[in-house]
Amino acid sequence: MSQLYLSHHPLVLHRLAILRDTATPPLLFRRMVRDIAQMLFLEAAQDLKVEPHTVTTPLAPCEGKRLAERIGLVPILRAGLGMAEAILELVPEAQVWHLGLYRDHRTMKPITYYNKLSGQAGLDVCYVVDPMLATGGSASAAITLLKDWGLKRIRFVGLIAAPEGVEALGAAHPDVTIHLAALDSHLNENCFIVPGLGDAGDRQFGTETE
Ligand code: PRP
Repeated sequence: MSQLYLSHHPLVLHRLAILRDTATPPLLFRRMVRDIAQMLFLEAAQDLKVEPHTVTTPLAPCEGKRLAERIGLVPILRAGLGMAEAILELVPEAQVWHLGLYRDHRTMKPITYYNKLSGQAGLDVCYVVDPMLATGGSASAAITLLKDWGLKRIRFVGLIAAPEGVEALGAAHPDVTIHLAALDSHLNENCFIVPGLGDAGDRQFGTETE
């Protein structure tokens, strides 16, 4: 089974409540996605390797460190875009590889409609980002594509998951660690996370319909 990391950071918990609130408009929603994604990434990236790197301060040479790994971010479109943009602010040297998957509303199965993976995978570690892990179908399918591409060290960073999604992702990819802000109660009959926050893509991009 995958390792699951749930953030208990007070600043994450505070923002999570704002994120869930139906009264939160898209501008503030996007800001909360950004903040939480960055905080989760800091936790998820703690094992990144660094190497010695000497710099010269205005006063003297100084032994420093620099990142020694090639980092990839894989946003699952569309809802993962806001998370990837946020994390890229912290690691501007990261490569961003886009995958587009949506969940068919009748079958609840993921449909891949965009795959930008090409050439040879040249990453040491990659972070798949998507706010919601519901049935786990989209994340599992995306990670299968990444493994087929040649990646080995893969992490999933999400905001909210259902137990069903964590279990499915863990069963499909037990080597992938999962980093979350919240593990919710269950999926409803439409496979929406309860209590969740609704549709993270629609709420980020203002495309909610009745
Ligand atoms: C949502 C979400 C995940 C997926 C989760 O995307 O952002 O990608 O559903 O569901 P699953 O775990 O059951 O696969 P959606 O299909 O609504 O597409 P969108 O990002 O374009 O809104």
